[in-house]
Amino acid sequence: MPAPERANPNEKIRVLAVAGARPNFMKIAPLMHEFKARSDRFDPTLVHTGQHYDQAMSDSFFRDLGIPEPDVNLGVGSGSHAVQTAQVLMKIEELLIEQRPHVVLVVGDVNSTLAATLAAIKLHIPVAHVEAGLRSWDRDMPEELNRILTDSVSHWLFTTEAVAAENLAREGVSQEKVHFVGNVMIDTLLTHREQAKKLGTARRLGLETNRYAVLTLHRPSNVDSPEQLRRLFEVLGKLNQELPVVFPAHPRTTNAIEQHLGGFKPDLHMSGPLGYLDFLSLMTDAQMVLTDSGGIQEETTALGVPCLTLRDSTERPVTVSEGTNTIVGTDPSEIEKAIEKLRAAPATKQRQPALWDGNAAARIVDILEKDLGNS
Ligand code: UD1
Repeated sequence: MPAPERANPNEKIRVLAVAGARPNFMKIAPLMHEFKARSDRFDPTLVHTGQHYDQAMSDSFFRDLGIPEPDVNLGVGSGSHAVQTAQVLMKIEELLIEQRPHVVLVVGDVNSTLAATLAAIKLHIPVAHVEAGLRSWDRDMPEELNRILTDSVSHWLFTTEAVAAENLAREGVSQEKVHFVGNVMIDTLLTHREQAKKLGTARRLGLETNRYAVLTLHRPSNVDSPEQLRRLFEVLGKLNQELPVVFPAHPRTTNAIEQHLGGFKPDLHMSGPLGYLDFLSLMTDAQMVLTDSGGIQEETTALGVPCLTLRDSTERPVTVSEGTNTIVGTDPSEIEKAIEKLRAAPATKQRQPALWDGNAAARIVDILEKDLGNS
């Protein structure tokens, strides 16, 4: 791979930053703020692919996190994986040819991340991948394929935990490209923690601090099978009898309930998706969080709130070894046992993973400035 082209002394470093789906927005936010703070050296363009497009899945995050309006929205919307990826590829290629950025910055592992990466490297524009090197070792997950493919062609691989560098080394990625910088999503959490606490979302919903659980579910492994979905709701409904379970449902899950269990109403405190600040506020005061999300495993570790992950694997093992996370699998009877165990003896472990200190975005932008600038 050729070395990235450096900006000449009279021009700013042109960064094309890409965000597409809900878990991208909290990662791109601190990076955009950092570029803005260095506007004498950087000229950023924010591209929203439009993978997520609802007010609840997208717009409210821009508002809550103070992210500037995207310069460009590609408006790709929903579709099969191939259609969604292809739409981003085609539309972003035109933009890249027009703008010729010095670097394309992508975050996370969604379809938009991979599509933007592919379009860029085919035009010989180097890619910086934030949250590189995470591996669940489960290639049935679309995100795992997106991670492997994005990492294999990126110039800069910015990692959140130590194991990521080992994973990348095993795949033959040169260690010169790998930079352990910390976690941009935790930058965002630390910036908004106090503001979220003041919202008192639990109280507003009539819940008492430490007397409720929060649930999120959207992975195909949990919601695409009617039988799995029905059994999960049985176990979680039982928990709800003793400890209210708040369940802000992802549109994918609402659709799955409608489609697979037509008319069934889970015995839970179910709502639509929440905004960033309300959800952070709810997690902060919860007794436990149950989830199949990737990012929430990290956020609960940063908050010191016990998390049961309803998946068979995690790509974020530091949340288990140092944080508050337990991987309990997808078998409802095992989930029930894990809930009982946690309720009987709440975990007290609360160490912060290395470099989850609120300064990850600054470290990333320092490295880009050093490698691409002329000073
Ligand atoms: C995507 C990401 C996943 C991430 C998740 C978080 C990939 C492969 N997956 O999965 O890693 O954890 O986002 O939300 O990129 N929908 C709406 N409104 C929206 C967006 C989606 O109603 O604003 C509905 C549509 O019916 C759509 C479905 O949700 O078909 C799924 O959306 P999609 O972006 O394809 O994937 P997610 O399952 O959300």
